[in-house]
Amino acid sequence: MSHRNHSADPVNPTWELPDFDVLELRRSLLNWYRRQGRDLPWRRSREPYQIWIAEIMLQQTQVKTALPYYQRWLNQFPTLETLAEADLQQVLKAWQGLGYYARARNLHACAQTLVREYNSTFPDTLEDVLKLPGIGRTTAGGILSSAFDLPISILDGNVKRVLSRLIALPVPPKRGLKCLWALSDRLVDPPHARDFNQALMDLGATLCTPKAPECPRCPWKDSCQANLLNLQSEIPMREASSPLPHKLIGVAVIWNDRRQILIDKRPAKGLLGGLWEFPGGKIEPGETVEDCIRREIEEEIGIAIAVEDHLITLEHAYTHFRVTLQVYHCRHLSGEPRAIECDEIRWVTLDEIDRFPFPKANEKIIAALREGVGNR
Ligand code: ADE
Repeated sequence: MSHRNHSADPVNPTWELPDFDVLELRRSLLNWYRRQGRDLPWRRSREPYQIWIAEIMLQQTQVKTALPYYQRWLNQFPTLETLAEADLQQVLKAWQGLGYYARARNLHACAQTLVREYNSTFPDTLEDVLKLPGIGRTTAGGILSSAFDLPISILDGNVKRVLSRLIALPVPPKRGLKCLWALSDRLVDPPHARDFNQALMDLGATLCTPKAPECPRCPWKDSCQANLLNLQSEIPMREASSPLPHKLIGVAVIWNDRRQILIDKRPAKGLLGGLWEFPGGKIEPGETVEDCIRREIEEEIGIAIAVEDHLITLEHAYTHFRVTLQVYHCRHLSGEPRAIECDEIRWVTLDEIDRFPFPKANEKIIAALREGVGNR
């Protein structure tokens, strides 16, 4: 196949595929998908609600991780209305462990908007779907092609890799987005948009993998420029990466003399908003962990505590930074707890704690508390 770059801009070249190639690429991919495509639960459904939930779960989560959550979610919230009527805490609890909790908050808010303003239906135009919070262009394409068979293209991480290799894109995907979107638009097969997009995702997830792609089994092996030039390990090209910033955090497990622990709910807006946590904060330069914990608890909750035994030290990586959590058992000394820098505070026993949604890193603290429970 010949690819001609008609653009003077090397960063966003526009590639034009001859019609013949487009038809052959569609035919071979759809054929492969009919034989080798994965049987996934959302592919058995045409119900926009069910497809929407799947596409949001799959935004930042792998299929195998999302599967059990997906089944549980549809049991708990089988329709748009049940989701709209649910309590946000219940929704966050159902999401616990999937990360990127804004997705759950947006699903909930979105369900309420759709019930109120769209007569409990899911919109079927790109314009309307893009207005919904948490839905960008690729998720919109995934939903609209899958639920309504509309020929709207997608470009998620897997598809970027497949298409970058197909044309041997000479820049990192981030810098060639215009070109990759144009290619995805050109390829999507109008009479088979649903299957075509699902097939493209499967190709990226199963054969055209980041490492060791299985090119000999690929339906596009005779057209793929990366394969023909043996550049699979160079393409997609990588951006020079900078290390993630690192924060050291002191965390308090504060006990009262009724064997209860103090937890707080993070403000609704911002990172991990609406989730519960053990209180604490950033260790300032020159400060000991113990000083940091005493100061943070005074500032956030307005009480005095004694910092006692070390419980656990945890590493966790978020998208834009890494944290090290230094967790200490603490004892409440004086003052009535107040929600100064958080939305709510509660005293809970270890048996009650599972009712509250916590971020992933905090689950390890709860596990450590359960293991050591006899020691205190
Ligand atoms: N990732 C995003 N959407 C997906 C889908 N529908 N099937 C498999 N993986 C996906």
